[in-house]
Amino acid sequence: MSALAHASSLLRSGDVVAFPTETVYGLGANALDEASVAKIFAAKGRPAHNPLIIHVSDIEEARGLTSDWTPEAEALALAFWPGPLSLVLKKNSKIPGIVTAGGETVAIRCPDHPVALALLRACKFPLAAPSANRSNYISPSTAAHVIASLDGRIPLVLDGGPCKAGIESTVLSLVTSPAQILRPGPIPAAILERCGIQVALTNPAVDHLGKNIPQSPGQMPVHYAPTTLLLLRHKNEAAETVSSLLLQGKKVGYMRVSAETTFGFDCTEAIMKVENPENNSSPAVVDMPEEPTAYAKQLYAALHLLDSYNLEVIVCEQPPSSPIWAGITDRLNRAATTTN
Ligand code: TXA
Ligand code: MG
Repeated sequence: MSALAHASSLLRSGDVVAFPTETVYGLGANALDEASVAKIFAAKGRPAHNPLIIHVSDIEEARGLTSDWTPEAEALALAFWPGPLSLVLKKNSKIPGIVTAGGETVAIRCPDHPVALALLRACKFPLAAPSANRSNYISPSTAAHVIASLDGRIPLVLDGGPCKAGIESTVLSLVTSPAQILRPGPIPAAILERCGIQVALTNPAVDHLGKNIPQSPGQMPVHYAPTTLLLLRHKNEAAETVSSLLLQGKKVGYMRVSAETTFGFDCTEAIMKVENPENNSSPAVVDMPEEPTAYAKQLYAALHLLDSYNLEVIVCEQPPSSPIWAGITDRLNRAATTTN
């Protein structure tokens, strides 16, 4: 049996499967079946109040899951699907409450990855899929990251190579006016606005539709975090922070932005170069690309890699503040937030 046939047969029998998308790997289950979706929450250790994104194979399938497919949704889906844009719309009764954390809205996207699309077509049902990592840990941009986080808890990972975008989809709510970015991602606001819609970047104070569910729990400050303490420092201060931590006898990782990093190569850990990983008198250095799409593609691999060395602290240079970096800055800010 082919891997794809194996995956779709597991999904049809109510199990979960990890699969590649263009953003990060997802942990999928039949979105229309409550018991299947419950297995996602169990495998990830995800709290029930955090709703899931539903993945569809085309616009038609998305329309059939909502009660109010708006002209804005149509325009955005035509422009950006398949692609890294999740649209939050009013759900219809086909979607069990477990997917939406009891809320009346649902996030839907069509992933731009041949394996994800082939899997969706083979299953003939939509797949609810959060990122395929243990809750609160770094998202996976390779199959190896999925295995490192969920081995023994899921039956199968489809390996489609490193994800090309590298950070999770932009989440845009269309149930508010103007539309709101709930999570910045690969598609920035200015590009969305080219579809003729107005986009706000901040959260409204009240939940949409007046429901008492978290607006977008992915926006909770602690998320996507490595186990190692991560410090974000301005470009001018990062090297100094690294030196002073080394003087204190700490084992230090250093995510540095470098103009010399080659663009466009895969974000596999085998290719990513780390200087001095086991040498305590100098930092373990990862050079990150200067260009934001290349940086995003390598972000989680760099965090996974540095987190795998027994370091005490990772110092990361803050990326530029321009809007094109918003998704990356958002993930780094969360990774740098600790509860203690
Ligand atoms: O790129 C992605 O979006 C990846 C791949 C696998 O598609 N998926 C992903 O899922 O990042 P997850 O579960 O890690 O993040 C889903 C985000 C969370 O921030 C969640 O709160 C938000 O989407 N979300 C889901 N449904 C929502 C809803 N009805 N209203 C508001 N936010 C919602
Ligand atoms: Mg996630």
